[in-house]
Amino acid sequence: MMSALIFYNDTHIMKSIISLLLLTGTLVVHANTTRPEIIAISTDSTQLIYAVGDNGRLYQTYLGPRLANTTEATLLPVNRPGGTDGASRMVTWEAYSTAGSETFFEPAIGALHADGNPSTYLYYKNHETTQVNGGTLTKIHLADDQYPFYVTLNYMAYPAENVIKTWSEISHSEKKPVQLTQYASAQIYKDAQSFYLTEFTGDWGKEAGMSTQPLLFGKKIIDTHLGSRAAMHASPYFIIGIDGPAEENSGEVLMGGIAWTGNFRLTFEIDNDGSLRVIPGINPYASTYTLKANETLTTPEFVFTLSQHGTGQGSRDLHDWSRKYGLKDGDGDRLTLLNNWENTYFTFDQDKLGQLMHEAKALGVDMFLLDDGWFGNKYPRNNAGAGLGDWDANKAKLPGGVSALVDSAKAAGVKFGIWIEPEMVNPKSELYEKHPEWVIQQTNRQPYYYRGQMVLDLSNPKVQDYVYSIVDRILTDNPDVAYFKWDCNSPITNIYSPYLKDRQGNLYVDHVKGLYNVLDRIKAKYPDTPMMLCSGGGARCDYKALESFTEFWASDDTDPAERIFIQWGFSHFLPAKATSAHVTSWNRNTPVKFRCDVASMGKLGFDIGLQDLTADELAYCREAVANWRRLYSTAMDGDQYRLVSPYKSNHAAMAYVAKDRNKAVLYTFDIHPRLGEKKLPVRLRGLDPDKNYRVDEINLMPGKKSSLKENGKVLSGDYLMKVGINALTGGDYNSRVIELTAE
Ligand code: GLA
Repeated sequence: MMSALIFYNDTHIMKSIISLLLLTGTLVVHANTTRPEIIAISTDSTQLIYAVGDNGRLYQTYLGPRLANTTEATLLPVNRPGGTDGASRMVTWEAYSTAGSETFFEPAIGALHADGNPSTYLYYKNHETTQVNGGTLTKIHLADDQYPFYVTLNYMAYPAENVIKTWSEISHSEKKPVQLTQYASAQIYKDAQSFYLTEFTGDWGKEAGMSTQPLLFGKKIIDTHLGSRAAMHASPYFIIGIDGPAEENSGEVLMGGIAWTGNFRLTFEIDNDGSLRVIPGINPYASTYTLKANETLTTPEFVFTLSQHGTGQGSRDLHDWSRKYGLKDGDGDRLTLLNNWENTYFTFDQDKLGQLMHEAKALGVDMFLLDDGWFGNKYPRNNAGAGLGDWDANKAKLPGGVSALVDSAKAAGVKFGIWIEPEMVNPKSELYEKHPEWVIQQTNRQPYYYRGQMVLDLSNPKVQDYVYSIVDRILTDNPDVAYFKWDCNSPITNIYSPYLKDRQGNLYVDHVKGLYNVLDRIKAKYPDTPMMLCSGGGARCDYKALESFTEFWASDDTDPAERIFIQWGFSHFLPAKATSAHVTSWNRNTPVKFRCDVASMGKLGFDIGLQDLTADELAYCREAVANWRRLYSTAMDGDQYRLVSPYKSNHAAMAYVAKDRNKAVLYTFDIHPRLGEKKLPVRLRGLDPDKNYRVDEINLMPGKKSSLKENGKVLSGDYLMKVGINALTGGDYNSRVIELTAE
């Protein structure tokens, strides 16, 4: 038998002596008896609990349903028995584990201190709790005992929404800069028999595709190296099904997202005891971060919920949170629109746009949205290869400039919105000729252009000013511009910042912080201007960017059969009012009604010319727009219920129930049913069982009568939830919209 004695000198809390006995190769920790301090991060339904160990360090002791009596959490051990032989080796869940210590699994933070030492040990100093904007903010301050190196862990708990967001702040006052090799936002542990990860991955045109896999020993990482169009292959969200794959209406699930509009990394690691650690954060790929003394690196927020009732409840909580605290103008209205992108691409002039504004009016939408191709003079934007960076209206196409367009829109009786892609530059542009040093590129290497363009270096404050000025100038010159579609089509390639000089490892991070600086300034000056976040489709959809945007473009893929899946994926995290969905000419095999019903589940818009619609279809669309508006508070501000999954059937059904449960709207879709397949009634959820609801099928093509058996009947919420409505059919591309009104 060998034994070892280690002394910890923790001046902040107490002196501890821990004797470590090495028994037949196994460590036993004899700790002193000071009771650990408990720090509970609580929502109405969930608790995340920390305790200070006898060694003065901070450990997670619990994540689960809220305890009735929090003081009982003092019983939860910091050191729990673990290892294959049961009690003889202690396992700890350090709140923010550090590289170079006895952390045997993935740490949250790694730092090369000014003297070259790669180890960090963090000790609890103190913590404080304050009430901030609807939630409770707990800040836990940690410090190394050998270096003036500090980490503050932040936890903001939103009680009613059952959402916690957490992030870290890292700083130091060492003599020279510290190199941070990893710097997670948080580290969250969970114990169970098994874990299943659902990811939301894909590519352009197939965003947020859902797939589920068991998590076994080791790491599963979802990350991105794309820099700016960061979520092109993976949305920054995940679901963990605990003790089984996530279910819609039952079981414990952890759902979350990292609020970062750049390279992110979600690490899921199962350790030797079968416990899970989730480590969300910025991806440290090519990003060893140089932190100067007295600077603070604030990491992105990790937003999560722990639902005891499956993903449906988790989504509803995240939607509520996001409408209240996340999205720009989260509880506000949204504008329906007609976009011209697919209708005209780059080929249009003032007259053509004027005509489209009248078409917008004829459709009954609120706004006309002018897309790409309106700017650039020396290098006109007639294709994707020129003009980005030169934000003056093209004189040949638009002699009257933006102001003439605003006037035409007014005359047509609609609002006017405009597309920009302000973070980008084409090498063929006056901006590039003037400021090549504003561009991320390596001048000694072969350039690599994605969509013929390059990314401006937003780590440079001058570039931030310039990008801000694009929006500011348009709105100063044309205060009636009502909306922006802000695009971002290129990832960062050939990464190098002329501005950052010897701090190149900071570029991926400081670039995104520069973007936030611009967006914050725009939001401060133009709090009421709605903006759509677009990134070659849905490649930007994180909670942080969405603080500055009222909605996002879920995908360029508007084939309604595909869109059902894409919107289904995003619906797990983002509310319908944030999910822009347009009726287009993709998949002309589908009826306009089907396309329109799919788009009506989100923030409705059109990108189709009236020449593509028959008179009946136009009449149908007008009615659908009017119904969408009439049912706005039910659907866009109500509770969402995913009822029939397209992943598990050849159909889909989604319902929205008003908060007062007096109104609901049900959308059902038959995608490609099998011959003779069994069709079960669609059972509603979230209704009041004691209320009676009138069933009305709406959004019917002109002259078409509803074939729905229950149409016109008054049925109890109880019946509608237990028996359901026979809404599904055996035909391809049939859809129904059914309004339920409490009598
Ligand atoms: C991206 C967007 C499209 C459109 C084009 C314009 O691809 O996703 O909606 O705006 O850019 O170039």
